[in-house]
Amino acid sequence: MKKIKINRRNFFRNLLYWSLTLQFIYIIFRLLKPGEKNTDLEKYYDAGDISFFENGKMYPFGSEQFYLHRLSDGGFLAVSSRCTHLGCTVQFNVNHNRFECPCHASAFNTNGQVLSPPANRPLDFYPIIFKNNHVLVDINHPVKRNRHESSQIKYV
Ligand code: FES
Repeated sequence: MKKIKINRRNFFRNLLYWSLTLQFIYIIFRLLKPGEKNTDLEKYYDAGDISFFENGKMYPFGSEQFYLHRLSDGGFLAVSSRCTHLGCTVQFNVNHNRFECPCHASAFNTNGQVLSPPANRPLDFYPIIFKNNHVLVDINHPVKRNRHESSQIKYV
């Protein structure tokens, strides 16, 4: 049997070699692992800097199918533009200060509450969070509701 001689210098050199190799493999694994880079925050739509939104104004996000309402008291409400009757896209009428559906004439107030049928429940809303002074809207999770409640409004 052949005897393997390990001196202190070789021992520490091998220890350093294997330590660096394992760290390298770990880093590569972390970078390539699918879904690892996706955080919950990446699922939110960044509507923009909080300071951009003036109190008492409605901001359309047509491509994302919602309106961001900055209430007169500074609160935020993200309202879906999908009509709760049969799903047509409502438009915000600035002159009448309400949402109007072009299909069957349902109307909703600025909080999404029904003003005129045939729709019989408010427009859906989207959860909002604030991060780094930005308004982030969870556009993948519309919330159905039977009535508008103040808890649906988010404050900075
Ligand atoms: S789809 Fe909007 S009123 Fe019918």
